[in-house]
Amino acid sequence: MSMAEHNLLVVDRDDDFVSGAKELFDGSLPIARSLEEASQTVESGDVRLILVGPSYTGDSQIEEIRNLHNQDPALVLILVAEEVTADLLRKGMRAGVSDVIESPLDESKIEAAIEQFAHDVLKRKSAVATPDTRSPSDRGQVITIMSAKGGSGKTVLATNLALLLTRVPDKKVALVDADLQFGDVCLVLQLEPRFTMVNAAHELHQLDGELLDSLLTEHPSGLKVLAAPLEPAFADDITTAGLMQMIDALRENYDYVLIDTASLLDELILSLIEKSDHVMMLVDMDLPSVKNAKLALETLRLLKFSTANVQLIMNRSNSKSKLDNKEIESALKMEISAAIPSDAIVAASVNEGRPVVETDPKSKVAKGLEDVAELIAGKIPEPAGKSGGLFGRK
Ligand SMILES: Nc1ncnc2c1ncn2[C@@H]1O[C@H](COP(=O)(O)OP(=O)(O)OP(=O)(O)O)[C@@H](O)[C@H]1O
Ligand SMILES: [Mg+2]
Repeated sequence: MSMAEHNLLVVDRDDDFVSGAKELFDGSLPIARSLEEASQTVESGDVRLILVGPSYTGDSQIEEIRNLHNQDPALVLILVAEEVTADLLRKGMRAGVSDVIESPLDESKIEAAIEQFAHDVLKRKSAVATPDTRSPSDRGQVITIMSAKGGSGKTVLATNLALLLTRVPDKKVALVDADLQFGDVCLVLQLEPRFTMVNAAHELHQLDGELLDSLLTEHPSGLKVLAAPLEPAFADDITTAGLMQMIDALRENYDYVLIDTASLLDELILSLIEKSDHVMMLVDMDLPSVKNAKLALETLRLLKFSTANVQLIMNRSNSKSKLDNKEIESALKMEISAAIPSDAIVAASVNEGRPVVETDPKSKVAKGLEDVAELIAGKIPEPAGKSGGLFGRK
């Protein structure tokens, strides 16, 4: 097994474990002797896969592993333990670990763990596939907004895109807030949901398009929102399979189903990518964002996920960064499909609870957002009536 292929890093303070790992990987292996050291290596290099040794299976160390995961959600973390218990597995998964494998290490176990990570996603997807009542061409399109770094503008893009798509004649639009812990779609749209996806999660056995419809929150534009859990703790009620079932139910009745996400490369986002017709990968114009996007794309390729439906969208594209588009495209091995400029009116519109395509439809930001919408739906019609007019909201 070549480590170059996986950009592997091994972390442990135990000499026996480290020398065992070295033997397995031809002796030439980056090693970190503590999680802090691992974190520095991640900061400075292209690490994609980390094998965390058995010194870190205690509760407090698992918290530190979570920090590593948060530092770069695109990392595939595999924990090695003397004994794999259900408790450890659960705690590990919550901290962002992809799999826990038993020591002593061997090559096949590691490869199996990587494959398992990809296959779990596919398996669950087919297990929950509901029979389609509409032919594929009239089933709604699923559009996922993702980014490998927090704060890159996913929620701004998702909410504005959703509003733009409501302008397309005869099309119904739903927006799902799949940022399960810190979803703020309703806040940004000034909505107060009576129900959330937690209610839907409790009705999975009988969930159909009609029942789910009754749990959505309506925006004055006609957009329907499936709200995220109201508290981070409730996120545990939402399983990946459950959320996929909700999306399938939405596709029965809505032409466009948009999904806002958290910046995590976890099982949920992989399932969403599998299900989506379009994946909009949002990248900020700074080096950490581009680096994380690169790692995320490489991880998808490593997991043998197709990136054919992924489109690159640059955000804050006129910011004073030294990066140019050509450099970014060659680093990410993908063309930029659209760009949204930076403008202070975005922050103002977020605080006001009215998306910028409503408040400033003529602005450059709104035009950039329209370019993204056109990747999905072709030409977007002008807004109906002037903002604040008969049909606009004051
Ligand atoms: N093009 C832009 N110009 C100016 N400000 C922007 C732009 N895009 C986003 N922002 C600002 O960045 C902030 C973060 O955006 P947003 O909440 O959409 O990011 P996010 O990716 O959803 O974050 P999180 O990962 O926390 O969910 C917003 O409050 C907004 O003010
Ligand atoms: Mg967000």
